[in-house]
Amino acid sequence: METAPIVLAMDGPSGSGKSSVSREVASTLGFRYLDTGAMYRALTWWMLREGVDVEDAAAVAALAGKAELSIGTDPLSAQVKVNGTDVSLPIRGREVTGAVSAVSAVPAVRTRLVGMQQQIIAATLAAGAGIVVEGRDIGTVVAPDAPVKMFLTATADARATRRTQEILHTGENATVHEMHIDMARRDNLDSSRAASPLAQAADSVLLDTTQLDKNGVVAAVLEQVRRTVLVSGTP
Ligand code: DC
Repeated sequence: METAPIVLAMDGPSGSGKSSVSREVASTLGFRYLDTGAMYRALTWWMLREGVDVEDAAAVAALAGKAELSIGTDPLSAQVKVNGTDVSLPIRGREVTGAVSAVSAVPAVRTRLVGMQQQIIAATLAAGAGIVVEGRDIGTVVAPDAPVKMFLTATADARATRRTQEILHTGENATVHEMHIDMARRDNLDSSRAASPLAQAADSVLLDTTQLDKNGVVAAVLEQVRRTVLVSGTP
């Protein structure tokens, strides 16, 4: 599908299928891809390594700007680095997953990362490419003007099962029951924080992925892109 270079905002809670779908959609459209969750995870990884108490918001805020962060936008291999170290794998482990909600609730962290995200999006569009951006606040805060906004959900069971598979892939152990508890805690923190909480943008399209496999979700998102592009008259 030939599509004009636009921003496609993909929001939703963890386990909703956002990541694999976003990468696939970006590859299909020839778009770049930005995983904003990986940026929060990378900063969290570094803070844990520095021995910061992530529950201490003032300590987290003081260090929010201190690490050099970089992230690639290739949907097939989007590397994320902290001070030059590739942390793409360790940021998926349970230690970082358990701490990232606390770090991402700190306004100084969000201000820095949202600013970086907006710069990456602007540079990508300026270079003539489209971009799929996934996260929690893309349609509401990072790219409120995105012409296509999707909000993915799934039942708690489906999400916990998917998260368990992801953790097992990193070589760590996890049970669906543990993931249920962990996700409920993170959902609660991500949705209730004061600074840009997880929320569905009023103008986004809600997609329940519980009964769909990856190809089904990809097809539904591409259909939405096609409709938007047709309506707006962009070739
Ligand atoms: O999508 P993920 O599970 O990799 O995200 C990790 C955490 O980062 C998640 O608990 C919430 C936070 N996050 C956020 O606050 N805002 C975003 N745009 C993306 C992620």
